[in-house]
Amino acid sequence: MNIRTIDWKNNKVRLIDQTKLPEKLVYLNIDNLKDLWQAIKIMQVRGAPALGAASALGVYLGVRDYKGNTWLGFQRRLKNAAQYIASSRPTARNLFLGIERVIAVALKNRECPISKIKQSILKEAKMIMQEDMLSCRKIGYYGAKLLQNNSNILTICNAGILATIDYGTALGVLYWAVSKGKRIKVYSSETRPLLQGSRLTAWELNKQGVDVTMIADNTAAKLMQEQKIDLVITGADCIAANGDSANKIGTLNLAILCKYHKIPFYVAVPRSTFDFKIKSGKDILIEMRDPSEVTKIMFKRLVAPQGVKVLNPAFDITNHELITAIITDQGIIRPPYKKNIMKILKVI
Ligand code: MRU
Repeated sequence: MNIRTIDWKNNKVRLIDQTKLPEKLVYLNIDNLKDLWQAIKIMQVRGAPALGAASALGVYLGVRDYKGNTWLGFQRRLKNAAQYIASSRPTARNLFLGIERVIAVALKNRECPISKIKQSILKEAKMIMQEDMLSCRKIGYYGAKLLQNNSNILTICNAGILATIDYGTALGVLYWAVSKGKRIKVYSSETRPLLQGSRLTAWELNKQGVDVTMIADNTAAKLMQEQKIDLVITGADCIAANGDSANKIGTLNLAILCKYHKIPFYVAVPRSTFDFKIKSGKDILIEMRDPSEVTKIMFKRLVAPQGVKVLNPAFDITNHELITAIITDQGIIRPPYKKNIMKILKVI
């Protein structure tokens, strides 16, 4: 893959501005916490694993100019930076894990000079990116075994290069399969309201030479009825200990359609997307976003009456009973999920 979604370059966070795709491939160079918070909020960077890297780098940006030399003062600054970046978006587990990881290394190094603690935070953020690059390829390796030659695959939102560091989870499975010579046909559901499926997934699959056809979200049932879909594969923002999975709004619709049409429904995620403290999907916090995302097409043309009431949840929860298997970087997890998640992910 030759696209890097988020990186640390020249002492700045370098990321692809995803709000500009597919028209332009533009990179942003961000050198302060506030701008990074904003980039996450307006989804210039998005997708759970990419958000994990962004939040960790954000904490570093928030503390790197700290001038004092006491742990107590530094700790206060660290806590503020962490709380601030955590307030950007509430659902992606990776965003919070990124913060937890850099705080943990700072605490571990608390006896060291402040400059050393800062370096340990940056090092951990870089490690998160390295690990994601490897995790996604492992997901690809395991998941590709589930794909037959000439499979017709439906996906929603973007769980690809642009949602991770450089490879993808759900789309990583497809990239791996294609690299091993399998022929596939992908349908990308446009993903109202912010169109990640058409703007991002169709863009990156096209760029990687994968056969992709875009559909409006409400076309999925018709394709399934016509037996044009062999399987659905999606990413997730957070998976609870029982396998319930939060992903882009509309994912649940697809899972229910799959059940009716007896089509496998797969979720592909790194281990870092699981939140073992959350027992079931009921307890996953779902982000509510601005009405203007629904009332206007990409914030431009008004497509609803001015001032109309709007409900705009960004994610829904797919009950674990609707999921055929969860493809992870440690292997494929099948039901019963409560038991097998613990076993395959070696949760102690
Ligand atoms: O609102 P978004 O675009 O951040 O939503 C992203 C998704 O729903 C992805 O499917 C999920 O984060 C998995 S990314 C590998």
